[in-house]
Amino acid sequence: MPDTDDTRLIGPCQHGVVVSALPDFGVDPLPGEAFHRACAAVRDLGPVVEVPYFGGTALMLTRYDDVVGAFRDNERFPAGAHYEIVIEPVQGRTFESMDGDEHNLYRQLAQPAFRSRAIERFDAGGLAATAHEVVDGFAEPGRAELMGEFCAVFPFWVISRKLGLPPASDECLRRWSFDLLGFLRDPEPAQRARDEFDEHLAPAIGERRREPTGDVLSALLHHEVDGRRLDDEEVVAHVRMFFAAGAATTYHALGNLLSVLLTRPEVLATAVAEPQRRPAIVEELLRFEPPLGALPRIATLDAEWQGVHIPAGSILLFGIAAANRDPAVHGRPDEFDVDREPVGLISFGSGPHFCPGSHLARRELLTGLDVLLERLPGLHLGDPTGIDPVSTTLRAPEAVHAAWDVG
Ligand code: HEM
Repeated sequence: MPDTDDTRLIGPCQHGVVVSALPDFGVDPLPGEAFHRACAAVRDLGPVVEVPYFGGTALMLTRYDDVVGAFRDNERFPAGAHYEIVIEPVQGRTFESMDGDEHNLYRQLAQPAFRSRAIERFDAGGLAATAHEVVDGFAEPGRAELMGEFCAVFPFWVISRKLGLPPASDECLRRWSFDLLGFLRDPEPAQRARDEFDEHLAPAIGERRREPTGDVLSALLHHEVDGRRLDDEEVVAHVRMFFAAGAATTYHALGNLLSVLLTRPEVLATAVAEPQRRPAIVEELLRFEPPLGALPRIATLDAEWQGVHIPAGSILLFGIAAANRDPAVHGRPDEFDVDREPVGLISFGSGPHFCPGSHLARRELLTGLDVLLERLPGLHLGDPTGIDPVSTTLRAPEAVHAAWDVG
């Protein structure tokens, strides 16, 4: 086990693994490399380790093969059971909280949001145009806090425009998404977000149900699979999910991208001088600092994993960031290496709930990078306060104070 200030061994526990007085993965901020050192410490302790989590404990998997295997084992560790508790009561029933045949059917019914002619039209020009429009709003003074000005705007506009929704203020789109995600911690704002969101969507849903216009929302309302269609409430629930699951994750990923670029001048110089290497930078970013650092699950059945008994009802933590830095898979895992051969990225999950937005997320990261570097020449870190990514499940910097040349 690495010798760090972040970890301390305290003895055996009921599951035959070792409990360590690691930081609490639910509440401690774990800035920058402190998080990755804690993950490495857990990985060295064993395949299944009981770690502090929101004042209780969770069983954490950190080794690449285990994390991939557990993601794919949707029988014993179904994704739906977790999302049914943490988000369905306010988001509504979507394929995120379903499993088995029902999950397959609803994922197909929602397919127009990921693959359709309207999506292709938007991707062809809408992404870059949207990024430019966001930058227009803050570029002039030569400095800005980019988490707020760019990361917290671009992905929310993308989802809204991609779907063909009526315009709403940046503040509303962002607040609705984050308040929905915060349901378990704070149900009241989540319920309010749901009500306001629904009021915003209702007229468009009614119009497109009567008269489809060729946009994604119309396609979602009219797409049929085996004679089934999503009803109005199901479409609204899935739209809520696209914001919560799609825009909030990309907000964090863009923040992590900026954090890496602005604290590693050599990576920034490569990105500026060699645009053809930007896709490799985005791929390495997703490995090195994934926005979902660890994902919770609930074991619905008694299970045995690597010889460790996992009782039904246990909370598991799938250590995505830890698996991405497993030395058994990646050489020099703690280095940001633009020339790394991309193998086995687990940042978008695996198995039946694999992220259907991974293609869009990569395009948003790349387009965001292209447009920021084109529009903000001489981009550099203005003030390091808040630049290290914090937290575990949704992880990003608190602030990116940047400056660039003007005039
Ligand atoms: C960098 C950004 C993103 C990351 C790292 C990410 C990561 C993930 C991961 C790890 C899962 C699996 C969750 C699980 O197994 O419990 C997932 C599921 C999902 N993602 Fe993403 N995602 C990103 C962006 C997006 C975008 C842009 C969308 C588009 C709307 C999206 C929509 C979804 C949906 C709907 C699911 C649920 C899939 C299912 O349950 O079948 N994600 N994402």
